[in-house]
Amino acid sequence: METMYWEDRCLKLLDQTQLPSKTVYLECTDYHDVMQSIKRLSVRGAPAIGASAAYGLVIGALSEEHLNQTTFIKKIEDIAREIASTRPTAVNLQWALERMLARVHSSHARDTAGIISDMLEEAHKIFNEDVEGNKQMGQHGLNLIPHGARILTHCNAGALATAGYGTALGVIRAAHEKGLDISVYADETRPLLQGARLTAWEMMQENIPVTIITDNMAGYLMYKGMVDIVIVGADRIAANGDVANKIGTYSVAVLAKQHNIPFYVAAPMSTIDFKLGSGSQIPIEEREWHEVTGLAGQAVAPEGVRVWNPAFDVTPSDLVTAIITDKGIARSPYAQGLAALK
Ligand code: MRU
Repeated sequence: METMYWEDRCLKLLDQTQLPSKTVYLECTDYHDVMQSIKRLSVRGAPAIGASAAYGLVIGALSEEHLNQTTFIKKIEDIAREIASTRPTAVNLQWALERMLARVHSSHARDTAGIISDMLEEAHKIFNEDVEGNKQMGQHGLNLIPHGARILTHCNAGALATAGYGTALGVIRAAHEKGLDISVYADETRPLLQGARLTAWEMMQENIPVTIITDNMAGYLMYKGMVDIVIVGADRIAANGDVANKIGTYSVAVLAKQHNIPFYVAAPMSTIDFKLGSGSQIPIEEREWHEVTGLAGQAVAPEGVRVWNPAFDVTPSDLVTAIITDKGIARSPYAQGLAALK
């Protein structure tokens, strides 16, 4: 099942808010549709947000095709800024938009139609390179997976979170394809249940053995010796290897340290923000209260209660055993390890 595809001036996005019960594609023909889809998590996961934003900018450009070239380029820059404001943490969003704008500025096309065609080509490239990179990440990550490994993951860093194949789940997929007899524990990942709804669904589609647990069960699972390794994705990695990922990742990393379990992060190089020296500089998105006070449309907390709802947390690099990228594996000291893969 495709996370997204481009068809006839329209971006079709699998609405992940409706999974696993319904598979519905949203049709985005206005860039505001794409912005809305990113904000409400119809499309989510750092690389998928980046790819959809790139296509969103093409859609925005299509509606401005009639302008003269200078005004057209200015307008595209404005739209890119608007799209970039949808979610602050995943750096792939900015990365993809910057790459699209660079293509606009370097285009030799003689008219706006030609620039749009270059932009579409670039968006397809971002999409295809992501799938290819994830497969490479899978191959690099294989070296870290023992036969029969029981792997805990958090949130969804799978095909749904990317252009295809997945990052953390890409490594798991590669291990399964190689016949390593792995099995997966998926944290349900409150408040929006990406683990229970999406990771479990993806794994079951491919017959990869998966068991879901609620987030507060991970400690006991490790205490009982039922986890061999942890693999998660990332939304942004600072130059020193600190990792921002779905809220709850930090707790899992602390638990893994306590139980001597390797804690791996799988992410493409586009998720590494070399401009930020440490994780404390990563902007953390805070989302609305009702995601916490409700569950499947049902109130689970008293009306009017105060809520804190950060969508991500930061795991310090000293809790990270290794970072698996599309270019290879980095280990501590990450400042040097990651820079060497650039
Ligand atoms: O809020 P979400 O669902 O967009 O959060 C997604 C995650 O935290 C993923 O783990 C991360 O983006 C990596 S996806 C390959």
